[in-house]
Amino acid sequence: MPERTWELRLLLLLGLGLGSQEALPPPCESQIYCQGELLHQVQMAKLYQDDKQFVDMPLSSAPDQVLQRFNELAEAHNHSIPQQQLQLFVQEHFQPVGQELEPWTPEDWKESPQFLQTISDPNLRAWAGQLHQLWKKLGKKVKPEVLTHPEQFSLIYSEHPFIVPGGRFVEFYYWDSYWVMEGLLLSEMPETVKGMLQNFLDLVQTYGHVPNGARVYYLQRSQPPLLTLMMDRYVTHTNDTAFLRDNIETLALEVDFWAENRSISVSSGGKSYVLNRYYVPYGGPRPESYSKDAELADTLPEGDREDLFAELKAGAESGWDFSSRWFIGGPNPDLLSSTRTSKFVPVDLNAFLCQAEELMSNFYARLGNDTQATKYRNLRAQRLAAMEAILWDEEKGAWFDYDLETGKKNAEFYPSNLAPLWAGCFSDLGDVDKALKYLEDSQILTYQYGIPTSLQKTGQQWDLPNAWAPLQDLVIRGLAKSPSPRAQEVAFQLAQNWIRTNFDVYSNTSAMYEKYDISNGGQPGGGGEYEVQEGFGWTNGVVLMLLDRYGDRLSSGTWTVFLEPHCLAASLLLSLLLSLLPQ
Ligand SMILES: *[C@@H]1O[C@H](CO)[C@@H](O)[C@H](O)[C@H]1NC(C)=O
Ligand SMILES: *[C@@H]1O[C@H](CO)[C@@H](O)[C@H](O)[C@H]1NC(C)=O
Ligand SMILES: *[C@@H]1O[C@H](CO)[C@@H](O)[C@H](O)[C@H]1NC(C)=O
Ligand SMILES: *[C@@H]1O[C@H](CO)[C@@H](O)[C@H](O)[C@H]1NC(C)=O
Ligand SMILES: *[C@@H]1O[C@H](CO)[C@@H](O)[C@H](O)[C@H]1NC(C)=O
Repeated sequence: MPERTWELRLLLLLGLGLGSQEALPPPCESQIYCQGELLHQVQMAKLYQDDKQFVDMPLSSAPDQVLQRFNELAEAHNHSIPQQQLQLFVQEHFQPVGQELEPWTPEDWKESPQFLQTISDPNLRAWAGQLHQLWKKLGKKVKPEVLTHPEQFSLIYSEHPFIVPGGRFVEFYYWDSYWVMEGLLLSEMPETVKGMLQNFLDLVQTYGHVPNGARVYYLQRSQPPLLTLMMDRYVTHTNDTAFLRDNIETLALEVDFWAENRSISVSSGGKSYVLNRYYVPYGGPRPESYSKDAELADTLPEGDREDLFAELKAGAESGWDFSSRWFIGGPNPDLLSSTRTSKFVPVDLNAFLCQAEELMSNFYARLGNDTQATKYRNLRAQRLAAMEAILWDEEKGAWFDYDLETGKKNAEFYPSNLAPLWAGCFSDLGDVDKALKYLEDSQILTYQYGIPTSLQKTGQQWDLPNAWAPLQDLVIRGLAKSPSPRAQEVAFQLAQNWIRTNFDVYSNTSAMYEKYDISNGGQPGGGGEYEVQEGFGWTNGVVLMLLDRYGDRLSSGTWTVFLEPHCLAASLLLSLLLSLLPQ
């Protein structure tokens, strides 16, 4: 094979080779953080174990100067710069990660929030107290330099301080923040929540949507849309109707973004419905996972690479990066390169939007705008009908992602299949009891340490054997909506097991993790693109929510082993009788 110039290699990598499809636009304009030879050379040389490190490093001087010096260096080495020279160049022109952020102790943090007192088990109560302390470690504030010289940072300036997930995630993320805020409200920190909400609203004002996270390389993709729900939780907690009134139009803008940029029409039974999907029509490797994406694309014909890059970004937008949930058939269905996120209509996305439409309708009613209240009520009704027609499976008793290419539902188990219960997006309460049967039929209750993300083991982090806090919440609070005591009891028992997994790992490691491996007695999770991270925002939020909800019953020393349905009924009867005995 003839030697190729770096330009040609870069073009081929980006799928722009002769005869291939048209290029998609890059993830952002920055010639340092999103596209160009500097990014390409540094990331492909793998100077750091994690590609995210380089794109998080602030520049030491203006980007034009750095680019000019880089071009000189590249030309001096005929565009093949030895690794050591590259390393020196980066050391000279970039600063270490995290320079642009400073630690921040939330001003509304207080020693003893009320809810701690309602936790009966002293071990769990002490643990909740330590998680409450963690907000002080996870608090961050952007330094003013980022406002005065935004071009020298990949971090996007935010006016208000915030809570981050932790580990490699030192900036804030969209859907993580919802569970963080639930925890913060229990910790009686509504001012911190308000600041975080304001940051998101500012992003919508500037960019028209909420990006995946607060970095320029995340700009063109969003994440599961929970902003309206965040506002609802804040307003319910504080009665701050003025804040709602000031920002209702910005919330509407975000809902419009999903309608305008992420909708898809689906036909069934001679009728046409509009639903939503994750879709990010931008090219090039994700800057923060550049070498991984580039190497993966290298395994495909040149003409298919640009599409893969877009589908990987859509996978990141779904929050499930990555998962067999987005893999499409073919000879090697468990290959990451078969990711086709935009070819599915996801249950959870549509449930979140259905809920957002309902909340928008309630918000407008509260503000006395009946026209708008009616508009969103109608949108919700249309979506409910569409979800019923396209996603709901009466026989199985759950909703399923719809595959746009085959016109069929994906029958695999994912906790997201029950998201409509959690989101209150169903018309028949009987659906909740069908959901319990669905969990039993899928043998989900045989997993003692937590609800698995899927039943496929692929090595991806959103698959077996990992379990994630937000997905536990979707199922637990979904089931708890049922009027049936049995479904409510199973919800409690799932909560008990998840608390136990988190508590046991914490007891051994003094750390909270972003995900847990439930195949192995409950351990920090693994797989995917990076090492498991400690911290951890949404995990802490979900634990605090469960401790608040079931604090009078949860125990640090109990596991529930689920029984067959008839045994379960007997054991429920037994525990009912026992609870009637004098203590
Ligand atoms: C520069 O590299 C290209 C291929 O990468 C090669 O064809 C060319 O001869 C090189 N030029 C010099 C001066 O080494
Ligand atoms: C959304 O679509 C509009 C045009 O319909 C476009 O201008 C805008 O860039 C899109 N937003 C994103 C984030 O892709
Ligand atoms: C909010 O307002 C409602 C109605 O005015 C009232 O019932 C409720 O107690 C208030 N909640 C808080 C947290 O102030
Ligand atoms: C209702 O909201 C819409 C959209 O923001 C606005 O144009 C309209 O003037 C509002 N109507 C009332 C009665 O406030
Ligand atoms: C905690 O440590 C003990 C003792 O080393 C070990 O037996 C147990 O499996 C560990 N549990 C977890 C959840 O890490």
